[in-house]
Amino acid sequence: MTDIVKKLLNKMTVEEKIGQLIQVTGDFFKGSESTITGPLSENGRLKDEVKYMIGSVLGTSGSSEVKKIQQDYLAHSSLKIPLLFMADVIHGYKTIFPIPLGIAATFNPKMMKIASQVAASESAAAGLHVTFAPMVDLVRDPRWGRVMESTGEDPYLNEVMAREAVKGFQGNLPIDDSHIAATVKHFAGYGAAEAGREYNTVDMSEWQFRENYLGAYQSAIEAQAKLVMTSFNTMFGVPATGNKYLMKDILRQELEFNGVLISDWDAINELINHGTATDLQAATNLALNAGVDIDMMSFAYITLLEHVDELSKNVLKLIDESASRVLQLKKELGLFQNPYKGLNPEKENDKDIKLAHEKNALEVAEESIVMVKNNSSILPLSFDQRVFLTGPVADTGDLLGSWSWKGDVLQTKSLLFKMKKSFKNISFSEGINYHDRHIKDWDKISQQVSDADVIIVALGQPSSESGEATSMMEPTLPIGQIEYLKKLRQFNKPIVAIVVTGRPLILTQVNELVDAMLISFFPGTKGATALTNILTGKSEPTGRLPMTFPRNNGQIPIYYNSYTTGRPIEFGLQNNETKYVTKYIDGSNDPLYNFGDGLGYADISISESVIQENVLSMSEQIKVSVILQNKSNRSGQTVLQGYIHQKIGETVHPTKALKWFKKIEVPAKNSRKIMMSIPVNELASVHQDLSTSIDLGEYEIMVGLNSTDLVSHNLTIE
Ligand code: BGC
Repeated sequence: MTDIVKKLLNKMTVEEKIGQLIQVTGDFFKGSESTITGPLSENGRLKDEVKYMIGSVLGTSGSSEVKKIQQDYLAHSSLKIPLLFMADVIHGYKTIFPIPLGIAATFNPKMMKIASQVAASESAAAGLHVTFAPMVDLVRDPRWGRVMESTGEDPYLNEVMAREAVKGFQGNLPIDDSHIAATVKHFAGYGAAEAGREYNTVDMSEWQFRENYLGAYQSAIEAQAKLVMTSFNTMFGVPATGNKYLMKDILRQELEFNGVLISDWDAINELINHGTATDLQAATNLALNAGVDIDMMSFAYITLLEHVDELSKNVLKLIDESASRVLQLKKELGLFQNPYKGLNPEKENDKDIKLAHEKNALEVAEESIVMVKNNSSILPLSFDQRVFLTGPVADTGDLLGSWSWKGDVLQTKSLLFKMKKSFKNISFSEGINYHDRHIKDWDKISQQVSDADVIIVALGQPSSESGEATSMMEPTLPIGQIEYLKKLRQFNKPIVAIVVTGRPLILTQVNELVDAMLISFFPGTKGATALTNILTGKSEPTGRLPMTFPRNNGQIPIYYNSYTTGRPIEFGLQNNETKYVTKYIDGSNDPLYNFGDGLGYADISISESVIQENVLSMSEQIKVSVILQNKSNRSGQTVLQGYIHQKIGETVHPTKALKWFKKIEVPAKNSRKIMMSIPVNELASVHQDLSTSIDLGEYEIMVGLNSTDLVSHNLTIE
């Protein structure tokens, strides 16, 4: 505890300390809310004596609004401890970047850093101090709508992206005026909701938790994220928000997190629904004992104010600890020196800054697009090809995705708008909207198709169908879109599908009906330009899938890094050629597209891969030198991926696990030599006793340009 925090704490009444632990929305300060009842309220509003003790505000931004609230607060509060302003700035503030799943698809950590930096800079100018990001929950189930906010199914990719996001949001410490504090969420395991159903039970072994889930949170904490948010779900049978083992033993002691732990929205109150607390007071006790510092909108900690004189010594001690962590954060952010830190109306509205940020958003959007099919190299298209553009996503600004509350869909340019500038001869009819089965203007469309060289169908989901509370039983495109595609196919013209989505979808039928396909996880403000640049070949598609795309609903959850089983399907055999093995009787085990998949325009392949040493000790680096050859006439980029497999161990191991990746440019008709270097300690795994260590013995090191076609090398650790 620093001196200033100690001094302040000594001056504060218990009530004032409790105030620091309460977070409400800005509406409570604007006087518009009229929902709160009980002894601390008057006419549905918080009584002034409570309001002017509150520690933080969420969901309000904009330099003038924030300034007004802060000024009024400081004028009335007795100790003049500035309010903290927090909000969900997830993938951009006004300039919207691709959704985090799309940023993960760049397979380029720099892109995550840039997106987070820009988001921080815009929101800091708008008066925010803290973002509720990054969400680092590992997800293996596309039915869960919040998968859009994650970086996918791979622990290593998650760890790398989590670290970059924190660095991007926070910058160098102490956090300056262009950066904001990051909140790692949701601790822990929120991405593993059973059956992909939002807010559902999470039930996994601690071994599984430590093997795959914990790493990304740890990585963000090691990058010095200032806050952690609890999750709504249970972990080891106990709701996370009241889970002392999870929060005290694992988060505070093991991961040495000493920042602010904030509850998720209403999550303390929800301990009552979970059935682990009888009332708000009991819920408050559970959360305080678990070390939750800030109560976000549960109105649980506020009940402490009703019986301050009866609080036990233990509760008073916990209040002191939590209040000091909140004050420490305010101190580290520099709010005691300047309560209006970062807030900057000129910067907020500066046109040049906006343009520079949009340039960044374009770069990230381009890198996020994944080409999963390109038969007969029909892409890229040339500008004089006659194009017929159609589908529900063709003429819409709904490209921003969920969690983009400050982004402007109406100002977001559509694909049609951008493509008109890039193709000499383009015709358009929407054909169908997202959910309709009725095709509009079919006669006109038939003519337009006959007059075209190529059909571009922009399919997908509206942004309202991914994000929080959007679990889906069948993550597929609506039937009307598939039927429309079938009708277009009858013309025997080449079809390029663009699929804009917030989650992996089952695209098995679409894949059969089209010649080429681009997957774009909601690409953001500059999405239409990015897609157009890829279509025309101005930019190379370099995105790779951060999640496996199932072939069939029944395969879910399906992920590339599955574990070895006792009865694998023998290599080369089809499901119907064998029986007592791990398989389905009605379809393949293989997904439609795998994690790591993605094509480019340039013809790049691995021409040589040599492991430097195949017997190593614990402290060494695994080194594989790889030559990438580009046989084509265009320069291009690819993502080189390094996987490991432990052959023998006390527990089972994934058949492959990503441990290294890099986006690499290879000039036309040229080659490049790359040294892939993986520290041996990346081979560490979790054992039966839950300890993490490296086993001596045999491993396989694999390199490839996706997770399926891999060159393998044997390695022994001695
Ligand atoms: C979400 C959090 C979010 C919070 C505040 C909750 O419903 O789960 O991720 O940060 O709301 O908006």
